[in-house]
Amino acid sequence: SLCAPFADGGEERATTPTVPSPLRALPFKLGRVRLLPSEFTHARDLNAKYLLRLDPDRQMAQMRTQAGLMPKQPAYGGWLQGSACCGHYLTACALQYAATGDERFKQAVERLVEEMAEVQEAYGNGYLGSQDIEVFEQFSQGRIYFPNGNTFKVNDSWVPWYWQHKLFAGLIDAYRLTGSQKAYNVLIQFADWAESVISPMSDNQIQTMLEAEHGGMLESMVELYQITGEIRYLDLSKKFYHNAILASLADCDASVLAEVHANTQVPKFVGVARRYLATGAVRDRQAAENFFSYVRKHYTYVNGGNSSDERFGQPDQLAEGLQGDMTETCNTYNMLKLDRLLFMIEPRSELMDYYEHALYNHILASQHPESGMFTYKYKLHGGYPQAFSTPFRSFWCCVGSGMENHTKYAESIYFHDADSLWVNLFIPSELDWSERGLKLRMETTYPDSEQVTLRLSPTRPVPLTLRLRWPAWANGASLTVNGEPTAFSGGPGQYVTLRRTWQEGDTLVWTLPMRPRLERLPDDPTKVAITHGPVVLAAALGRDNIEIADLQGGGSAARWKWPLPDVPALTALDRPLESWLKPVDDKTLTFRIGTDAATAALTLLPSWRGITQRYAQYLDGYTAAQWQTQRTELARQRQVEQTRAKRLVDEVLIGNQQSEIDHAFAGAESRTGEFRGNTWRDAQLGGWFSYVLDVKPGTAMMLRVRYWGGGQSSVDSTSMRVNTNSLPRHCTGMSRESFLRWIIRFQWP
Ligand code: AHR
Ligand code: ZN
Repeated sequence: SLCAPFADGGEERATTPTVPSPLRALPFKLGRVRLLPSEFTHARDLNAKYLLRLDPDRQMAQMRTQAGLMPKQPAYGGWLQGSACCGHYLTACALQYAATGDERFKQAVERLVEEMAEVQEAYGNGYLGSQDIEVFEQFSQGRIYFPNGNTFKVNDSWVPWYWQHKLFAGLIDAYRLTGSQKAYNVLIQFADWAESVISPMSDNQIQTMLEAEHGGMLESMVELYQITGEIRYLDLSKKFYHNAILASLADCDASVLAEVHANTQVPKFVGVARRYLATGAVRDRQAAENFFSYVRKHYTYVNGGNSSDERFGQPDQLAEGLQGDMTETCNTYNMLKLDRLLFMIEPRSELMDYYEHALYNHILASQHPESGMFTYKYKLHGGYPQAFSTPFRSFWCCVGSGMENHTKYAESIYFHDADSLWVNLFIPSELDWSERGLKLRMETTYPDSEQVTLRLSPTRPVPLTLRLRWPAWANGASLTVNGEPTAFSGGPGQYVTLRRTWQEGDTLVWTLPMRPRLERLPDDPTKVAITHGPVVLAAALGRDNIEIADLQGGGSAARWKWPLPDVPALTALDRPLESWLKPVDDKTLTFRIGTDAATAALTLLPSWRGITQRYAQYLDGYTAAQWQTQRTELARQRQVEQTRAKRLVDEVLIGNQQSEIDHAFAGAESRTGEFRGNTWRDAQLGGWFSYVLDVKPGTAMMLRVRYWGGGQSSVDSTSMRVNTNSLPRHCTGMSRESFLRWIIRFQWP
């Protein structure tokens, strides 16, 4: 249930530095785990190349301009440019250095920190950033306002603490992972500035301010407390406690998550999970556990991601979200941070089941395997191609978090306590646990293979408990130790515990049988995904109708032409999966569905291997009987469309450049875009747009206009006869021109 009491009681313990850490599983420093060649090293190295192409001077340009200093180079493009992107870049370089020891990344860290120190000096009060400092001065004076009620824009500034948090995180990582004393000095002055902003504010003012997204400010303050031992930073973390969300989840009320912006929430819980580790405050743990398990159970799609058009909708109502831009990568980046902290608090196998699943199917699948560029949000249904960032002009949030994602694949493979070693992920690697005199080498091509080999080489025999993750899906797992089949207890979804004195050359082979499984959306069982072990199999739909834009250019690296080809449906869900899903003989993790079980033959690939084509992780799926009914319904719809097409006099595809030109588009203050598979157009207040359409002289005609929105997530289609007065919403200026044309004008009053 959402609020199972924890073993260590329900009372909040004092949040003082004397409370011993409740940590149960400890991570290894990144440098202790060396990755061996695999798709993960490919992703890491590709990302490293990209990081090295970036110029710290261009990253710093906006911060210098804001501080009144001359930028040394022009800024990169994209809405995250400025302090937020600098912070991510700093963290990514620090992580890459910690993971590989490559000095070039340490140098990049040093360069950036130098630059940041110069900007900080220019302000003289500890401030650092690319936001207007005046916004924070207004906060201090208790002036907090949300123009147009938009909680992202507070005091006319876009999520200012979210931006500041990235810098805090970057400086903390620069200090912790590279030992930069300069980063520490900048950090302390910066934190003291933050304290000076917050301390004059009343609790009410702070809570109002926290309605705006503020990233992981709470977490950074806890980290500062951990680094310095100074209680005032712990106190500052309490100021960044957003009551409406955090206290509700601590009190077992998850209803506050419905319809809120998803990625705004996750870092708040990362913060309280970390604070529990620092102080043992049970309510913090309760909130973090509740949030994680609720989001995982009620808001998570098959790739481990959450959100549609950046929101949590209603719990278990996931089908409508398939129409939107789904599963933002930042959310999963943050969910994995939270997952890891929860694992340290209480090492449970289910946490690492989720971790593995999301790591392969979302994080690895968010990188273009040739260019190394990043996805933002994307569709898992409908056969859309992925859009990727460009190297220098599309710095979005998911590019920032993406730069970090691929540097840290080694961080959760192994954990330890004084006497045991957890083996969580089956990523080829070498662990050096020098404190115990143990080296361990993991060799595998998992998940292409079901076998994982672990070779132990202790310098002298070492008594140790080895805890092997037994994934929940792996029925019938088996183990050999030094070639001998070995009995073990437990079951899928637990750790197998092996207590021994390990000797040089001891070898374990852990075999995890994989079977295909069907996963359906809770609110629409006709939306199905096929998984195989930890892998989501996506239908690979080819490259028809994809245009790859110039990777050096702006915007996204994939565009597509309309209409996209139809995606085949599955039509034999009443038959056992293995009877129609067939492995392709010479290729691992590649499957084929023939036309006896689908409306066209389909090839399925692991979700991270199909992303350069159009692909779908969810397919429409029916039993044979359902398919009969569905087919009849589709035929009926086609008939309606054909009849309509015969009667159609003219049609403008709103937002489609060619169609708009053909219909004499005119307008002011109007924007266009693509949303849920439709191109759209709207206008600012006072703005308008118009088209000229053909008429059929002497005939009564009908105008149909399709709208989305008005605060409701539904499509509404307005039909009207031209001679009535019932004009559709916004459609204020319809007139006739010589009875030969209609001018349809949409006006935003
Ligand atoms: O508002 C900043 C970031 O932009 C959010 O965290 C993310 O969801 C959005 O795309
Ligand atoms: Zn993002």
